[in-house]
Amino acid sequence: MLAQFNVPSAILVGGGASKEVGTQAKRFNPECVLLVTDLFMEQTGTAGQICGYLEKEGIKTSVFSGVRPDPTDKDVLSGLKQFQEDRCDMIVALGGGSPIDAAKVISVLVNNELPMSQYAGYHQVSRPGVPLIVIPTTAGTGSEVTKVAVISDTERDVKMMMLDLNLMADVALVDYELSLTMPPDLTANVGVDTLVHAVEAYVSKKANPMSDPIALSCISLVAQHLYTAYKEPDNRGAREGMMLASCQGGMAFANSSVCLVHGMSRPIGALYHVPHGLSNAVLMPTVTEYSVSGALKRYATISRTMGYVSEKDSDEAAGSALISGLQALNDSLNIPRMGECVKVDRTTFDEKVEKMAKDGLASGSPDNNPVVPDVADIIDLYHRAW
Ligand SMILES: [Fe+2]
Repeated sequence: MLAQFNVPSAILVGGGASKEVGTQAKRFNPECVLLVTDLFMEQTGTAGQICGYLEKEGIKTSVFSGVRPDPTDKDVLSGLKQFQEDRCDMIVALGGGSPIDAAKVISVLVNNELPMSQYAGYHQVSRPGVPLIVIPTTAGTGSEVTKVAVISDTERDVKMMMLDLNLMADVALVDYELSLTMPPDLTANVGVDTLVHAVEAYVSKKANPMSDPIALSCISLVAQHLYTAYKEPDNRGAREGMMLASCQGGMAFANSSVCLVHGMSRPIGALYHVPHGLSNAVLMPTVTEYSVSGALKRYATISRTMGYVSEKDSDEAAGSALISGLQALNDSLNIPRMGECVKVDRTTFDEKVEKMAKDGLASGSPDNNPVVPDVADIIDLYHRAW
């Protein structure tokens, strides 16, 4: 099997990397940059600092802070309008996965016709977008290094997954110092999402010799640093480790794939507005239990990398320890059960569960899972995670 490996043409990793945004942007010779971010980044002053680094290099800036969590097509169109009205010619994204995903799609919509729904799925974007620098502030989604964007389609109540090389940023500035202000619950949710990225990349049918070592490195970093980052928000070593893990998890899944956890997670986000990281985290132990027999050796390696068993233990023992270890990790991070996240009663949930299962399957991600489910299997898994 041929494996293709794509990342941004430059990734700057380390404390203070975000201060390089002006010098990095200058390489593209822009007149005006649209900074795509959210209200939180604007209110905390971080957006203003990033604009300052750009303006120091003689680049005009326009701040679009209208991206909401789990961004919608409407957020993207508002950003596109501002880009055009302010005659921008380049984009910088600042924030978690939501501003970064929205910025990727704004970038390609400048050069590709509407409606954006035609770009959902795999390799549908025909022309490259405008230059894009991404600065993640959460560790995380890994979106800074992926060719994927997820945008909610407000008419159809589905999350559109777009995957195309034209969605890849040109430069990623991975600065752990920006993650020091993440609150503990967000640290936990997106930290487990990082782990899901690496685990799914490693057990996927699309796993390959380039993504494997990066996935295992990410898993090891999460095992070392996630709990500390959650308990001690100011711990710079733990924050640095998780920011690196997030970037590696993104590289791993973007060059392999995600699987069933992400397939089942997106409908929960679309219908109940549960944040992406949280919906992945609540599904992880249940889906792992279902999937482990399909790739026992690989799940055993993950279990050993997490430190749940030693090299001497059998693969079967390692697989069992992984299932209980992941649930214990969720418990230690105070991640709730799904029933508490969706904020509807069980009857209401059950009325929608078949649509969720069908939407999850239609995304294509479950096809890469070590055990490929049908609609009935997915309904059962949603119930088990309740
Ligand atoms: Fe994810």
